[in-house]
Formats: sequence, C-alpha cells, structure tokens
Amino acid sequence: MTKETFSETTITFITGNQHKVLEAQGILNNLGITLEHADLGYPEIQGNLEDVARYGAQHASRRLGKPVIVEDAGLFIKALEWFPGTYSSYVQETIGNKGILKLMSDVSNRYAEFRSVIGFCTPKTEPEVFLGTVKGRIGYKEIGRFGFAYDPLFHPEDYEESFGEMKREIKNRFSHRRKSLEKFALWYKSHNNI
Ligand code: IMP
Repeated sequence: MTKETFSETTITFITGNQHKVLEAQGILNNLGITLEHADLGYPEIQGNLEDVARYGAQHASRRLGKPVIVEDAGLFIKALEWFPGTYSSYVQETIGNKGILKLMSDVSNRYAEFRSVIGFCTPKTEPEVFLGTVKGRIGYKEIGRFGFAYDPLFHPEDYEESFGEMKREIKNRFSHRRKSLEKFALWYKSHNNI
C-alpha cells in the first residue's frame, strides 16, 4: 500500500468549546500546524472515545470538504469504576463538580485520569485516532479560576495545584490534550509532503 500524504498545513478543529480551541491552538501552532475553528456539530454515536472521534472526524471532513480534527475527552475516576468516562459531558451538565465531590465524599482512593482522543480525517481518507492521557487525583474541593469543566477538581500527578489553578501555558505542557495533539502532529508531519 502506498503511504497517504497530506499537503495542507491548515486544519479545522470542529468543536463548540472555545477553551479547547485556545488550548489546541497553543499546542499545535508551536508544532507547525495552523488551526482554524468551526462550530459545525456532528453526530456523537454511542461508544468509546475512539469510536466517537473516528465517526465525528469522518462525518465532519466529508461535510466540510476539508481536513479536520475533532476531540472526544473525559474524566475517568478509578474508585467510581471509571465513571463519568464517556458520560463526562452529561455528568458535567447535570450533577457537575459538586455532584462528583459528593460521590467521592467517603472515598480515599482519589486516582483519576483525563483522556483525550483526537480524530483526524480528510474528505478522501479514512479517519485516524490519537489518545492522550494524564494521571492525577480528585481533590476534596473545587479550586482555581483557570481552565473549564472538571479542571478545578483535577490535580495532575506530581503537582499540588489543580488544573484550575494553572494558566493555559502550564496545563498545555503536559495535559491529556497536549499528548493527543502532539501524537497527531508528529504523525501528520511524517505524512506531510510539503
Ligand atoms: P467532550 O465530550 O470531549 O467535550 O468532553 C466531555 C466533558 O469533559 C465535557 O463536560 C468537557 O467540558 C469535559 N472536559 C473535557 N476536557 C476537559 C479538560 O481539559 N478539563 C476539564 N474538563 C474537560
């Protein structure tokens, strides 16, 4: 099989989340990829993060007629059997961080991970997915005014501070999104014929 090559350095990130756009621009611009943004929406099928990202990227690239990335992410808490996981969005909108803290009130094992899967697709190719994970723990209260959603609850491994206490540049150095986007960028460049 011949190796697929790409000649574009501009890719469109399909998301309705402005925080994700700013984080992703900070990461990808440093890696030589220009990111545009479109809030198109795409069907979110039932399945794991990879399934959702693969399907969403294919759907959006065919519809837009351009190379795109989409992201599906979530918070996975070990003591809660990896809940909220793929339900992270729904849980954030319903019980929110306070609800998670309630569920964790008697729990001493605070281990959790954020996972991010980037799906990439062009109108003429099959989708590819890239997983990034960051390990950490759930705090006992919400703390910090930076970031979004679960950030004030999540303390990455080896740090006292929560993601909510970190400025974007710091979170971007080692977040789940950093890792998935970096994997994507390295793969993309190795397939880029410019
Ligand atoms: P999504 O479906 O990929 O948008 O993410 C699922 C849920 O996890 C949403 O409520 C997001 O706001 C939340 N989430 C995703 N990434 C992060 C992050 O980096 N920090 C905090 N919450 C996040």
